[in-house]
Parts: sequence; C-alpha cells; structure tokens
Amino acid sequence: MKFFLDTANIDQINKAHEMGIIDGVTTNPSLMAKEGIKGEKNILAHYKNICEIVDGDVSAEVISTDYNGMIAEGERLAALHKQIVVKIPVTENGIKAISYLTGRGIRTNCTLVFNPGQALLAAKAGASYVSPFIGRLDDIGENGMELIERLVYIFELYGFETEIIAASIRNTSHILQCMEAGVDVATCPLDAITGLLNHPLTDAGLEKFLSDHRKLNG
Ligand code: E4P
Repeated sequence: MKFFLDTANIDQINKAHEMGIIDGVTTNPSLMAKEGIKGEKNILAHYKNICEIVDGDVSAEVISTDYNGMIAEGERLAALHKQIVVKIPVTENGIKAISYLTGRGIRTNCTLVFNPGQALLAAKAGASYVSPFIGRLDDIGENGMELIERLVYIFELYGFETEIIAASIRNTSHILQCMEAGVDVATCPLDAITGLLNHPLTDAGLEKFLSDHRKLNG
C-alpha cells in the first residue's frame, strides 16, 4: 500500500519525506487555503515546491466546474511538473474532462467519490486514480470503509487499472483497515501516519532497555 500525505503544509511534507515513508501528496483547495496560499501564481509555485520535495505523484485540484475551464486548468497544472496529477471532481463535466485529459496523456485523480457508480464512471473515463472519501461518509452515519472494500472488490473483478486512493482518512484505525482491504493508496494526515508508531509496550520496552544500560554504564 502506498502512502500519500494529505496536506499542502511544507513542514509536514518535509518531515514525512525525511522519514522516507511517503509516495506522494494530495492537496485540495481547502488544504491550500489552510496554508494561506492565494493567487494563481502562488498556488502554482506551491505545487511546484511540493513536487521538488517528494518523488511521487502530487495531486493538484482544478477550481473550474465547466468543461472548458477544467481542461484548460488541467493542462496548465500538468505542464507545471511531470509529477502533477490533475484532481477533478466526479461531475458530468469532470468525467468528460478526465476522458479528454487521459487522451492527451495527462494523469488524473477523480475526487469526491462517495459511491461505486461514481468510481465506475471515473475508471471508464480513464482516471489514473479515484478518491473515495471515508471520513465524510462516517460523518453522516454511513460506512466509509465499506465503500473502500466494495471498490477494491469491483476494480479487481473487472481489472480496472485505475488505482484507488482511500481519502478523508481521519485516524490510524482507518489506515489499518485500508491495509487489510488491499487498497492501492491511503492518503493521510501526518498525525494519522505517525500514530501507527504508538504502542505502550514499545515505550515501556525502550525505557527498560535504556535504564538497564544506565545501571551499568552510568
Ligand atoms: C484528498 O484527496 C481529500 O481531498 C481529503 O482526504 C479530504 O479529507 P477531509 O474529508 O478530511 O477534508
């Protein structure tokens, strides 16, 4: 399972990159706004910065909702850097834009996916990735993990090449469940990833090793 970092925060991206555990980054307009990045020039420069830190794919989302706007923006974003994957919402115009961009060799990540039908259309249009949102489904009393499991099954059944990115991950338990479900990628906040390290027996064991060493060595 690949790990993408779900943030536009450069410090967090650097930290995860230095740990050597991330395979890419996903952003969205809310995450960019959270970092205070505004204006097209700054937004594009920020995506380029992220690409220069990490080795893998970096999803950059279009703001347009009309077809012509989506493809023009998609082409602009893709021209920025070879690691850019154009993130497009799963609307009718979005699916059409994914088809167009795929035909021109531009990779896409179809976002805001909440059911298998939306994921199917994204895969048929040739999306490189599809992003089902776990946490937001859980938030409204549905079962986000169930959607991931269904998509893994369906995509395997039909041999779709589109990779599934489990998105809207809120905690370490989501990550562990994604691993068991066999999802291709989990895009996560940094604290959910570092949370995987936590175990009280690790802390207690390390403390014991160090205190035994101190007893003899001072
Ligand atoms: C990533 O592709 C998504 O935009 C992101 O995971 C959404 O997460 P949220 O539901 O926590 O905002």
